[in-house]
Amino acid sequence: MKIIESAIEMCGLAKNFSTEGESIGFVPTMGALHNGHISLLRKCRKENDVAVVSIFVNPLQFLKGEDYDKYPRQLALDKKICSAEEVDILFIPQVGSVYQKGFDTFIDQSHYGRFLCGPFRPNHFRGVMTVVAKFFNIVRPDKVYFGQKDYQQYLIVKRMVEDLNFHIEVKMLPTVREEDGLAISSRNIYLGPKQRKIAPVLYQSLMRTKELVAQGVVNVKRLKPEMIRMLACNKGLKVEYVEFANVETLEPVNEVKTQALVAVAVRLGNIRLIDNMIITRG
Ligand code: PAJ
Repeated sequence: MKIIESAIEMCGLAKNFSTEGESIGFVPTMGALHNGHISLLRKCRKENDVAVVSIFVNPLQFLKGEDYDKYPRQLALDKKICSAEEVDILFIPQVGSVYQKGFDTFIDQSHYGRFLCGPFRPNHFRGVMTVVAKFFNIVRPDKVYFGQKDYQQYLIVKRMVEDLNFHIEVKMLPTVREEDGLAISSRNIYLGPKQRKIAPVLYQSLMRTKELVAQGVVNVKRLKPEMIRMLACNKGLKVEYVEFANVETLEPVNEVKTQALVAVAVRLGNIRLIDNMIITRG
């Protein structure tokens, strides 16, 4: 496995791979790698000649007061994981080389940022899109891999790839969960024992909704309060949002017609947890 810290070097390598006709797969991450990331790495490894993974805690996507400084960093372990998963190139640039002095160009969207996490994390997706676009230009991937855990991020990147004519296939893989259903996240290590016990309620509330829909309860006016009730009865948990949305546009729906995205965000103390499920009416 090659470890590359310079964008120029990464660009050069990617160019060589392209001219040699080798396909490049890419998994962008912020590190603290876990089984969710590993599922993306494996798929990328399997489907491409060259597998590239980036680890970069992107300051641009953290709001003031968020956890940029204390975001979990475990580079030595991450290197071992990538090497064991037969990643070819681990790209780990420094902040100063990604955002050079005078950096002044950003990518934004007007539609998708209005929904779900958007209003709660102003400019977050602008930061994500900007860094992802930069990395797409540096790595020149044929295929990129994103997790359903961050469904809104996946949709936003897919739209950006179409709108800006990146010739890239954007793939989404299912959310990997702990045994009790909690969606795996680098931030789960912040959870204290009591919070960790409560945290699976996000998944449970999604599963309850899935069950109700299967029983024919499809009106969001009935489904949403039931989810909020299940979540909010836990001490220390504050619901940020529970939304039923169109899977392509993210616009709110009143009824689960054939398919709907059900997305939830809560705060457990200071820790923000999100989860979602695409529910199909059978
Ligand atoms: P990060 O949170 O490290 O996640 C990297 C990728 O792993 C994302 O596509 C995310 O959806 C996926 N992922 C995280 N947890 C997962 C799980 N439990 N199951 C499946 N996939 C999971 O998302 C980011 O980093 C950043 O915003 C980034 C795209 C790298 C831009 O900075």
